[in-house]
Amino acid sequence: MSEVQNKLYRFLAKYYQREEQNIKNLNEKIKNEKLNRQYIFYGDYILSQVKKQIINLLKSSFPNLEINDLLIEEPPFHIKADFCFACFDLGKQLKKSPLLLAEEIAEIININSQDLFIQSAQATAAYVNLNLKPEIYSSVLRQILEMNDKYGESDLNKDKIVLIDYSSPNIAKPIGLNHLPSTIIGQVLGNIYWQTGASVIRHNYLGDWGTNFGALLWAYLHWADEQKIKASPARELKNLYVRFFEEATQNEKLIDEAREMFKKLEEGDSKLLSLWKKIRDLSIKDFEKVYKQLGIKFDTYLGESYFLENIDKIIDEVLDKQIAKKGDDLSIIVDSLNNLPSFLLRKADGTTLYLTRDLSALKMRLEKFNADVILYVVGSEQSLHFQQLFALAERLGYLTENKKAYHVPFGLILIDGKKMATRKGSLIEMEDLLNEAVERAKSIVVKKNSSVKEKKLLKIAEIIGIGAVVYNNLRSSRLQNIDFNWERVLNFESASAPYLQYSCVRIKSILKKLELSNKEIFLPQQIIFENNLEFQLMKKLMLFPDIILRVQLENAPHYLCNYLEDIAQLFNKFYDETSIIKTTDENLRNSRIALIKSLLLVLEKSLNLLNIQVPEMM
Ligand code: ARG
Repeated sequence: MSEVQNKLYRFLAKYYQREEQNIKNLNEKIKNEKLNRQYIFYGDYILSQVKKQIINLLKSSFPNLEINDLLIEEPPFHIKADFCFACFDLGKQLKKSPLLLAEEIAEIININSQDLFIQSAQATAAYVNLNLKPEIYSSVLRQILEMNDKYGESDLNKDKIVLIDYSSPNIAKPIGLNHLPSTIIGQVLGNIYWQTGASVIRHNYLGDWGTNFGALLWAYLHWADEQKIKASPARELKNLYVRFFEEATQNEKLIDEAREMFKKLEEGDSKLLSLWKKIRDLSIKDFEKVYKQLGIKFDTYLGESYFLENIDKIIDEVLDKQIAKKGDDLSIIVDSLNNLPSFLLRKADGTTLYLTRDLSALKMRLEKFNADVILYVVGSEQSLHFQQLFALAERLGYLTENKKAYHVPFGLILIDGKKMATRKGSLIEMEDLLNEAVERAKSIVVKKNSSVKEKKLLKIAEIIGIGAVVYNNLRSSRLQNIDFNWERVLNFESASAPYLQYSCVRIKSILKKLELSNKEIFLPQQIIFENNLEFQLMKKLMLFPDIILRVQLENAPHYLCNYLEDIAQLFNKFYDETSIIKTTDENLRNSRIALIKSLLLVLEKSLNLLNIQVPEMM
């Protein structure tokens, strides 16, 4: 290690002193969580028991069959059955036609039905359709109401520590709308993984190092107005940055000077480093305003700079293992890794790159944070970067069978069909967007209820406005581009957060009315339902733990959104057709009350998992 670099590391070590303690605390917290958390056994869920019964039956009928899990689905609506499962994979394994196998399995189930939760089975094409015994529904409702907000949790990932890298904006400019998907998807995946038993580390990997800081520092030293910076740091820093690149188009020398300045920073120039530190601290303060609005808290903000120190060692390792070679200058090149395009670990002037820092961060996350899985929630335009990073980390033996990393990409947010970029200054700031959402929600709520008091109104508008923006980002499948459009985002009629929130508010108001006249609600021994909607809703409720697992397995929150929209639609139809208050049969009435209570529980919990709150009124 050279003397100049020593200077840099000494500075950073001092700056990050407190962080070392934070990391220890975090590790301790996770250790305790693993010891003390009361995990919910997935096998206790009713649908999981149904699955188990089928699996056991299949195993005893087909001794060679290897089967651990079965995907139970809802049949298409023209099929009159509760659930179904497909026989394609089973058929492949048993070398039987899936059509014939479906019939064979249906028959086996029917013969054994007295020992099962299943009343009857029939085959349609390569699917086995199942009808459940109606008694099962009272067990389901009892389970939901007893488990309460733990309903849906499981223990399947209880041995895992999952580190999620999300939001991760570059400092020295406001967080833009382009960082919204990562911020929201990452936050939600954190919630979901926790539900499946994992311990979760939320890592905001700040972009706080890199050539761009050369430009920023240059601009700061030449043009900064301290007054303005104090008033609105991120915005003012961005202006400096934008101005730099505008002037650089006239004066190419600036780019070289900026590069020189970054080199000085990486060599530990103390004046530049203190300016950098100031910019970093101010930026975090600014970001936290936005995170607070969104209800997000990170476990750590350790950004690229923190991981510089180990780079020398890693580069030695890469060279030793002959994965990279030295260029004629100071550069280090990796040029034949899994047929990927070649890339640099050091530039010609010896400075590090984004990928170099990411490699060091990856290693440290596995070693120091004990992560078993790392998720990088980052736009799909960085796919190649992550392919290269992971390929290198595998070759180095950092990533293994038990230590995994995944890139979780997503599409762009488009405004009027167009993408945004910072250098041209056309960045839409997240803070402005969230404020506008609240304003718009406020005027909608006022129109509906002119008598709400100002303070309450603001609270409700915040919940609705911000919830609407968040939901809009989650409901379409991750890789799709999202066209941002206020009418869509704040549509109260369908497929939006307000629509789902409104369903909750409706259920709450029914329960409120009921409890005035009927304080105690008993769960009837025999659940009786009258109409098909009620059974459809019951089936949705049974699927909840599996939906959470599916979101986790595919890192795809939209499955939960689709599920909620289905429930809300069914419920609203039920609400239009049925009056619980006027239901005279006591068993039926209590069954219905238990049903809507359970629906509320699942809806509200799901919205919370999506980082959306439910207002008391709308
Ligand atoms: N700071 C980067 C950006 O704003 C995202 C960082 C993502 N995380 C990572 N480990 N590379 O584009």
